[in-house]
Amino acid sequence: MSRYYTTPIYYVNDRPHIGHLYTTLVTDTLTRFHRLQGEDVRFLTGTDEHGQKIEKVAKKEGVAPIAVADRHAPTFRDLWKRFSVANDDFLRTTEPRHRVGVTEMIRRLGAAGDLYVAGHEGWYCVGCEAFYPEKDLEDGRCPTHGTPPEWQKEENVFFRLSRYQDRLLELYERGSVPGIPFVFPETRLNEVRSFVAAGLKDLSVSRTAIEWGIPFPGHPGHVVYVWLDALTNYLTALGLGSGDESLVARYWPAGDDRRVVHLVGKDILRFHAVYWPAFLMSAGLPLPTQVVSHGFWLKDARKMSKSVGNVVRPDALVDAFGVDALRWHLISEMSFGQDASFSDEAFLVRYNSDLANGLGNTLSRAVRMAADAFSGKTPSERCDDNEVKRAAETAVAAWDAAFRACRLHEAAEAVRVLLGAIDGYITAKEPWKKVKAEGVTPALHRIHHNALEGLRVAACLLAPIAPGAASEVLARLGAPKAAEAIGPSDLAWGGLPLGAPLAPAAPLFPRADAKAYFAEPSEEKPVTEETKPAVPAVATVPTVPAEPAPAAAPAPAPAAAPAEAARITVDDFFKADLRVAEIVAAEKVEKSKKLMKMKVRIGEEERTIVAGIATAYTGEQLVGRKVVVVANLLPAKLMGIESNGMVLAASLPGTGEPSLLAVDPSVPSGTKVK
Ligand code: MSP
Repeated sequence: MSRYYTTPIYYVNDRPHIGHLYTTLVTDTLTRFHRLQGEDVRFLTGTDEHGQKIEKVAKKEGVAPIAVADRHAPTFRDLWKRFSVANDDFLRTTEPRHRVGVTEMIRRLGAAGDLYVAGHEGWYCVGCEAFYPEKDLEDGRCPTHGTPPEWQKEENVFFRLSRYQDRLLELYERGSVPGIPFVFPETRLNEVRSFVAAGLKDLSVSRTAIEWGIPFPGHPGHVVYVWLDALTNYLTALGLGSGDESLVARYWPAGDDRRVVHLVGKDILRFHAVYWPAFLMSAGLPLPTQVVSHGFWLKDARKMSKSVGNVVRPDALVDAFGVDALRWHLISEMSFGQDASFSDEAFLVRYNSDLANGLGNTLSRAVRMAADAFSGKTPSERCDDNEVKRAAETAVAAWDAAFRACRLHEAAEAVRVLLGAIDGYITAKEPWKKVKAEGVTPALHRIHHNALEGLRVAACLLAPIAPGAASEVLARLGAPKAAEAIGPSDLAWGGLPLGAPLAPAAPLFPRADAKAYFAEPSEEKPVTEETKPAVPAVATVPTVPAEPAPAAAPAPAPAAAPAEAARITVDDFFKADLRVAEIVAAEKVEKSKKLMKMKVRIGEEERTIVAGIATAYTGEQLVGRKVVVVANLLPAKLMGIESNGMVLAASLPGTGEPSLLAVDPSVPSGTKVK
């Protein structure tokens, strides 16, 4: 059986967050599961670099769109490396190999008579890169992003999507491979079916309002609609149109022994389950086996997204707890297919119970006791009939079934249950009492064998989800093996080498002190109300009313004009190097209510400034904005982040909320303010 697993290709207008990470980890975990079974699995991911979204960011920054893409694509690539993601290929849609394949796809759509030119206007959401019929807007806003769409009017090339309505409905009925629903979970299949059954309109597949895209063959001035461009990546990465289509032949399905599975979030299901199969039908190409869709990670009850400004970035958690802890949490916490809320609290609870306690403690306890009893070695007697063996066999079966049914959280649950059974077994057998009372007996060997062998099987089951931890556990058990080298025979009882050296080591997952983790680090203390004046990263300029407040309505205590004694000389003032700066990136500092981390450009120079303005601004509102900064301030650390400079803001009367000083956008960044 060959399998081809893909993630969506991610937009390069932003750095990756937990939502992107999840899709990639799900795909990686499934890939690793099937590779462990000895199957030939190809895994593709990449970046989606064309379209209006990227063009807009580039315009705002005054750079070429490719510069934006070149900046962000490596952050995805590097993050996947950091998370041990085992992809075979990483495709960027700006690569020549992709352009060649898209051109071939369009040639095929044209040859099928499915392309024509017509005038077109409608509401366009740049976030989704899609037109919305008025009835689908919520209060005039995009239902996914909550932002107002733009009215766009142009002449486009259209794809005859309406022609494929019946064939699509048949696909949903029968599946592309009999017995496998085309969309998983099936509730989502029903949504897609109703959407198509309600009637399909032809789809505009070229754009003239933008330049950043693949030129549309035969239509000068038009670029290929970004979704037609992006979806085709699944085939261009295999070499469609390149002259060497051996990978297409090997992985793109045309038989029962191939599976092509696209993993996507529910936001982009329609593109994958309606447009993509219709394009393929028109092009005369085989269809994927299944589109598997998962739910959203929510933060504060909203989808985590850059537009909303509520994203959780993985960096801080990984620095503190390691890659495997986050991999484990994301896979375990989300019931696959449903939405889940991300919180640091839940992360820490799970970390302590599953990893520090369930896995780490059980492992160090079992290894320590066996090493003490058998002079630093694994037991030399095995036991093939006991409750741990039965628990391991049950766990392997449950884990296997869960992965095959795409219920990844249940696969994690099977590991957890097995670890619980091993821990309970050690507690019930009390080997520490036995060794005292009877010395080192064959029975003692068997007890320790069962515990260590159970842990060996648990480590193998952990491998697709947390490969680093799995390899480490195996090494500590005296049965070293890289997670990638584990095969089906390793799942059978009895693989633990007898009399092999044991290497007790420091705790695998040291217990996390939740209280200390949530305590505001001392560096951030300055942003609390009482200590506000000491905040080095945002200078709040007291607002002084232009006219005295009327006596009947006392002003809410605006700050007074500076007293005589506090006056400074002009020389004092000029000590501050005030400059115009442009904010090029901004994100809220995790676990801080007020702090915003910004990348600002002062002339040619880029630096990081952390400022207490997150209660008043989202990252989205800040990017592209020009501000005044104190450029020669000594660096200060806020929540562990080094801040180089201070942003000037007024502190509004009454609330103390910051309001950034406005700068005319035409003033170049780096200009001196005096
Ligand atoms: N570029 C398109 C996809 C083209 S595929 C041919 C795109 N990119 S994206 O950067 O917006 O990434 C979308 C995917 O990221 C979602 O489908 C989902 O897999 C993942 N997630 C982004 N935010 C998410 C959450 N808040 N929660 C879970 N996953 C989400 O759309």
